[in-house]
Amino acid sequence: MRQLGYRAVDIIVDHTAHLNDKKVGSLSTREEMEAVFREAIPKEGMDPNALLGFVEKEVLPNITHLDHPRFFAFVPGPSNYMSVLAELLAVGFNIFSGDWLGAPAAAQIELVVIKWLTDLFQLPESAGGLFVSGGSMANLMALILAVHHKKQPGKVGVAYCSDQTHSCIERAVRILGKERVELRVIDTDERFSMKAEQLSRAIQDDKEKGRQPIAIVANAGTTNTGAVDDLKRIAEIREAENLWWHIDGAYGGVGILDERQRALYTGIEQADSIAIDPHKWWFQPHETACLLVRDQSRLRDVFYMMPEYLKDVEVSEEEVNYSNYGIQLTRGFRAFKLWMSLKTFGLDNFALAVKRGVGLAELAEREIRKYAGWEVVSPASLGIVTFQFQKPGWSREKANQLNQAIMDTMLKSGFAMLSSTTLQGRRVLRLCAINPRTTEEDIKEAINQLNRIAKTVEHATQHA
Ligand SMILES: Cc1ncc(COP(=O)(O)O)c(C=O)c1O
Repeated sequence: MRQLGYRAVDIIVDHTAHLNDKKVGSLSTREEMEAVFREAIPKEGMDPNALLGFVEKEVLPNITHLDHPRFFAFVPGPSNYMSVLAELLAVGFNIFSGDWLGAPAAAQIELVVIKWLTDLFQLPESAGGLFVSGGSMANLMALILAVHHKKQPGKVGVAYCSDQTHSCIERAVRILGKERVELRVIDTDERFSMKAEQLSRAIQDDKEKGRQPIAIVANAGTTNTGAVDDLKRIAEIREAENLWWHIDGAYGGVGILDERQRALYTGIEQADSIAIDPHKWWFQPHETACLLVRDQSRLRDVFYMMPEYLKDVEVSEEEVNYSNYGIQLTRGFRAFKLWMSLKTFGLDNFALAVKRGVGLAELAEREIRKYAGWEVVSPASLGIVTFQFQKPGWSREKANQLNQAIMDTMLKSGFAMLSSTTLQGRRVLRLCAINPRTTEEDIKEAINQLNRIAKTVEHATQHA
């Protein structure tokens, strides 16, 4: 066991040490992967050392490295080693975080970490929350709370969000069913923030038509551009209308740690619920997310169950069975990861790392502006900048196609990976710079290479 474990740790540490020299993305095809992995269920076992060798040779090289310093696509996953160890220990002891009896220390640590987070967003003493698998789950649970606590029987509730809201909100509404809730999408302004006055008018309009507004979902850091909605103004609207106010801070909630950004978050303390994803910009391994709620008892109102076969775990008021605050009964010890890394590095270092990501995207924006033909489409915001290569006379389709080709060529090169998205009908390149291992040189060289690729791609189309 020890020898196998040491070998696994060596593989992880070597990976981290040599990350910079690796290709960022994996372009392996289904056909190639079928050829490597397809087999009948093994009837007999194999030597675990040989299996680890196979894993090293075939599994780990065929992945995209979300922790790579030049992975700028989607949302990077720069995890940290202390959380990796926390995960290892939690799994090694198979810690059960569903009830107090399963692991009093785990429940207490989750209580403590959740309190750190609710304090950070200045939620009141009644606040609470829990760790869940991801932002999608946290957002779904928030909408379940909204429907449960606000919707009148026999009416269809209306939830409002902006056209920049993550698709998991629409999925959550679909899961809840159109007989319970429907979604009304509000336009965004030139900064990609929800048009608050349009929101206010939409609510009035729905009320006049006999529909029941129940919830507003605001963004604290959109996936596309890192935009934060006008939380101060939306707080007033929701106050006047007495709606459930959820804030999706899965990507950008952590930006509150950077004092230069803090004013953007004014009003967040009035939210009924906030989703945050420590597996994004809090440097945690995947499946570490939280739903924070203004009033912990609201979760219990919806999720509490006590069947006869669980009577043995019933606890007093002070002790907490987290399975009564969410969807999962059996739950791993996710809070451990954030707790171990916050204890090791301290919040100030997390704040420095977040500030660094914000600054690196600003640097990327400055670099892009240096090169002819490039246009910044959304300026750096919370670590994200979007841009497009464009020449006078190009049709929108041509620009879209060429920018897609630039991105694909960069991915094939293995040097860096960006993603693309559509903003106001334009296909743009999107760079997300939240990995603390990323250097200024990485950013400069990536933009430089993008520019070189753009010229080659342009040249190729001229001579096609
Ligand atoms: C703003 C926002 N909300 C929700 C999600 C979904 O989170 P998860 O992938 O953790 O389910 C994301 C993921 O990128 C996001 O950026």
